[in-house]
Amino acid sequence: MQVITKTELPLKKFSSGKVRDTYELGEDLLMVASDRLSAFDVVFSQGIPYKGAVLTELSLFWFDLLKGVTKNHLLPLDLPSNLARLPISLERRAMRVVKAKPLAMECIVRGYVAGSGWKDYQKSGMICGHQLPAGLKQAQQLPQPIFTPSTKATSGHDENINRQAGEKLVGKDVYDEVEEKAISIYEHASKHAKSKGIILADTKFEFGLYQDEVILIDEVLTPDSSRYWPVAQYQEGISPPSFDKQFVRDYLETTGWDKKPPAPALPQEIISKTSEKYIEAYERISGKKFVR
Ligand SMILES: Nc1ncnc2c1ncn2[C@@H]1O[C@H](COP(=O)(O)OP(=O)(O)O)[C@@H](O)[C@H]1O
Ligand SMILES: [Mg+2]
Repeated sequence: MQVITKTELPLKKFSSGKVRDTYELGEDLLMVASDRLSAFDVVFSQGIPYKGAVLTELSLFWFDLLKGVTKNHLLPLDLPSNLARLPISLERRAMRVVKAKPLAMECIVRGYVAGSGWKDYQKSGMICGHQLPAGLKQAQQLPQPIFTPSTKATSGHDENINRQAGEKLVGKDVYDEVEEKAISIYEHASKHAKSKGIILADTKFEFGLYQDEVILIDEVLTPDSSRYWPVAQYQEGISPPSFDKQFVRDYLETTGWDKKPPAPALPQEIISKTSEKYIEAYERISGKKFVR
């Protein structure tokens, strides 16, 4: 099995992110999810087997499930004749999408207090300006899901922001619209996940403007963009084990790495366990067998 950390298609490159390489396809874009792994915003040189296929296939599953809730950027995977067929390894990792103008704000929804939300709450009793009940424990469910946007840093770490700062970035109308959309998507998705024995603790969406409309773009509800906890291991007061990169992060915390590039080499065992976690997340959430 080929691990894909680089792509080189005979198309004009549009952008290269931490994980995805995007190409121009006429007016549209071809987004290819590689097997690259990033943790603490640093990209590792080793890839995670099947990761790009998991991210793409899980996003496709969710886009379909959420069809009635929001418009998205997805188009049928029609390819130009010089690419009439992508190598099969890339075909599973590729999505054709409309070219949108991404909002300068990451749209995060939290149903539970974890991660940077837990850090903010401990400091101030608030997350992104939402005043929360006193005495919440780590990983506790919130009275209702909250919209906690962040900046979309081009380099370095994203920063949590409040409504006022968000409205400055995207305007009041768009802010209201994405807040409502993001919470509604979260509610639908967490209901589905729950029926599969999984808690959707929090997740990050990206929205973009396309033909004067706000649509859902990027990847959606993957282990890279979401914190998923198996119900069976969920407990308040701790950081429950999750399907996201927590597994790699926990390992890295034991190595003494200062979280600055270059990233250290990962042992083979950590790479294969991470791969299994991604595949397990896909299979449990979609209810489908992942084809290896
Ligand atoms: N439909 C779209 N139109 C334009 N840009 C998009 C679209 N969908 C996603 N993007 C952008 O493509 C990039 C995806 O690549 P990724 O590797 O996830 O980047 P990043 O390192 O910024 O997370 C993101 O910057 C995202 O904003
Ligand atoms: Mg991304």
